Amino acid sequence: MPDFFCTVGFGLDYFAVKELQVLPLTTLQQTLVGKVFFHKEGSLDSLLVLKTVERLFVKVVHVEVEPNIQDSLLEDWLTCKLSHTSKFFSDCLLTWKEIANINSDCAVKFRINSRLSGGFRKASNFQRVSSLVGSVFMQHLDSCVIDVRDPDLEIFLHLNDSFLTVGLQVTKKPLSDRSYLNHILVRSTVCVAMCMAVDLSSKDVILDPMCGAATILAEAIKQFNCKAAVGVDCDPLQLKLAQDNLSTSLAFRHVDLICGDSRSIIFKDQWFDVVLCDVPFGRKFGEFKEIQRLLTSIVKSVDIVLKPGGRVGILISEKLRQTLIDLCPDCWSLHNQHPLRLGTLPAAIVTWKKTLTCPI
Ligand SMILES: C[S@@+](CC[C@H](N)C(=O)[O-])C[C@H]1O[C@@H](n2cnc3c(N)ncnc32)[C@H](O)[C@@H]1O
Repeated sequence: MPDFFCTVGFGLDYFAVKELQVLPLTTLQQTLVGKVFFHKEGSLDSLLVLKTVERLFVKVVHVEVEPNIQDSLLEDWLTCKLSHTSKFFSDCLLTWKEIANINSDCAVKFRINSRLSGGFRKASNFQRVSSLVGSVFMQHLDSCVIDVRDPDLEIFLHLNDSFLTVGLQVTKKPLSDRSYLNHILVRSTVCVAMCMAVDLSSKDVILDPMCGAATILAEAIKQFNCKAAVGVDCDPLQLKLAQDNLSTSLAFRHVDLICGDSRSIIFKDQWFDVVLCDVPFGRKFGEFKEIQRLLTSIVKSVDIVLKPGGRVGILISEKLRQTLIDLCPDCWSLHNQHPLRLGTLPAAIVTWKKTLTCPI
């Protein structure tokens, strides 16, 4: 069985590796920024439900790039590297057909999707590299034809200063697309990572005190089957989006939405096992001092409603991360910090565990 790789958002490789580690007959091979390489035997269905990855590929080529390849020699170098592995092309294609559920005798229309970075990122290289890779594939696979408009298969090529990586994209849409959500305010992969970071389980009752469109809660119910959830937001428009998301994801039966201000306590003391929250940051939510005051009040409220032994996971910008850590109560022990990026913005998922002997 050929090897695979998946692409992941910055910082989410930790979570993708955790997901892969528990799959049967799976061996991790290499983790790079943005990619995780692995070998998988047996059934491949479990790969299609990975929750923290962007896209999944059957690996065709993954080799180190020799230093200082001159532009004029790039085509020769690529041809050599691809031809070296061309005997595996048909196996890769068969695996792709198996996992993409396509009859093994079917002809396949494909296009090349090239990403060149580092020293190779030149407009003149894109066309050359794509057509060269296209012709190598056609040469070695009789059943493949190029179709840039309506391909069955995207062949992904990434060439940077360190590696040449080529893979067959397994699904047309990214695995990270969640068809059951209409409004995505935080990437679902990040929401799943937050749930994983606090070891969310089906026994947990969770609170998101600033739930916005309830993306985190929808993922908590859909992917982790958590027992019950409550979402609070002070903005009725956000709650409309949340309602819509919860009904399209069929998570509404397990989630109560409340319009309110989470700075004041609206729940029974020590009610929740887990609190997950993507706190507001960025100018539209006010100046630094204002956000700091908001965080102070929210942390106080959360502390009151969290059970002893409860877990907290907060998504926060890198700029506010230490401020938040400093204002958390002593009875929350800092558990972990996972740096990531939201678009280009450096952020982190920070987790705490509340001690079992907390004064009320
Ligand atoms: C970054 S968004 C949360 C996005 C959310 N995680 C999602 O999946 O859509 C922050 C939310 O906090 C809400 N908010 C701000 N201050 C609040 C407060 N004092 N009480 C409750 N909600 C508040 C805002 O209305 C906004 O919807």
